Amino acid sequence: FGQNTSQYNEPYRPQFHFTPPAKWMNDPNGLVYHNGKYHLFYQYYPDGIVWGPMHWGHAESTDLLHWKQLPVALYPDTLGWIFSGSAVIDKDNTAGFGKNAMIAIYTYHNDDIWKAGKKNTESQALAYSLDEGKTWTKYKANPVLNNSGEQDFRDPKVFWHTQTARWIMTLAVGDKIKLFSSQNLKEWQEESVFKPTEKDTELGVWECPDLFSMKTDSGETKWIMIINHGDKGPNGGSCTRYFIGDFDGKTFTQTQNAKWLDHGTDYYAAVTFSNVPNDKKIVLGWMSNWQYATKVPTEVWRSAMTLPRELELIKDKNGYYLNQKMVSQLAAVTKPIFSKANVATPFEKKEIDLSQSEVRFDFSQPTDAMITLSNTKGELFTITIAGNIVVTDRSHSGQTAFHESFAAKPQVMSVEDRITSVQLVLDKSSVEILLNGGKYSMTNLCFPTEAYSEIKIITKDSIALSNFTVSAISRIW
Ligand code: FRU
Repeated sequence: FGQNTSQYNEPYRPQFHFTPPAKWMNDPNGLVYHNGKYHLFYQYYPDGIVWGPMHWGHAESTDLLHWKQLPVALYPDTLGWIFSGSAVIDKDNTAGFGKNAMIAIYTYHNDDIWKAGKKNTESQALAYSLDEGKTWTKYKANPVLNNSGEQDFRDPKVFWHTQTARWIMTLAVGDKIKLFSSQNLKEWQEESVFKPTEKDTELGVWECPDLFSMKTDSGETKWIMIINHGDKGPNGGSCTRYFIGDFDGKTFTQTQNAKWLDHGTDYYAAVTFSNVPNDKKIVLGWMSNWQYATKVPTEVWRSAMTLPRELELIKDKNGYYLNQKMVSQLAAVTKPIFSKANVATPFEKKEIDLSQSEVRFDFSQPTDAMITLSNTKGELFTITIAGNIVVTDRSHSGQTAFHESFAAKPQVMSVEDRITSVQLVLDKSSVEILLNGGKYSMTNLCFPTEAYSEIKIITKDSIALSNFTVSAISRIW
């Protein structure tokens, strides 16, 4: 493994999203920028096409799009399987592994203890690399944070808190997030517990938290806490939400109610890269859903990551929200193939290859609309905008029968304002939808058995669509 043995041309193989060459992948892990390269580690089972004993796979990129596959970074050992976690660059050698060491903070999951029905299954541990992530050494005194008796005790995300000059870890612990602090990454003190103030909905298992600060255009600072939930999301299965608030070095206090980071079914375990220049926040998610991830119709590999997206913190009349934009590097591999300043509705364009494409347009005025992507076999993916509701339907999008929940119901999203702009990014087996410049995001898998080659837009009122552009996105492998 580690070589590009796959030709990346199997049916449904994404052409510009990250996938492992072969076998099972889930969460992005250890997202970190160092010396000109973005490192992407990921939950990986190199011996199977379904989830199993977890490793950390590894890839690196200079532009977040073209990835070089690298050998597996972390293998399971006697303490357990290597579950999700993060990576930091230890500029001041606080841990004593070396100046600028790349340090992974991950969860050990001990399956023997789990199977024995005991609760202290999971603990946190360290590994470090002194050669930019190529080779790894596990810390000899692992684990560094032992279980306090909760079965779910995992997914450490660590950052350096400048004001108090120490490391802060967010950890998913049962149905809450715990915050810990450390001077050296080796000894940790519990600082606080975060539970939402609103009456919490019945969301499934708490996983993969992230905490970071951002500034608005006008220089206001807020802290953002991302929490992923494995099940019972609004559209079924896995989902990602975030809270906006303040952080005093000990406690995160939310100042407004939770929002969904994405409203589709296939955007999970999303966390941000650490150490990115200019403090940019780049978020990456696993583009699947625990409901059916092990059943999707691919055989050589399973799962892709979403496109990396840059976050912006925006304040409007309803409070703060995170805006998402596909990373700017995407423009370099995107080439317009059809473009019109104005088109009247209803609009239809046939015989256009949408299999790796971006479709963009603006509404000259808000109206209810239906956007249909289809192929010559009559398979279709629809997006319906009706007032403040947006609905996507993949029930006839292609292969759907591999799991009963995949196409059981449409995905529904409520929006605060009328839709004025649409951006669709299509790869071989996904549609990522960003509306109103990235205020609303909806990510869905779909498995058309032939490329979509037609786009149709009908609207309630007869209006014009401006800046209508279809672009081809080139293959990155
Ligand atoms: C999220 C998750 C994490 C865990 C990992 C195991 O998808 O369940 O909580 O660390 O996957 O692979």
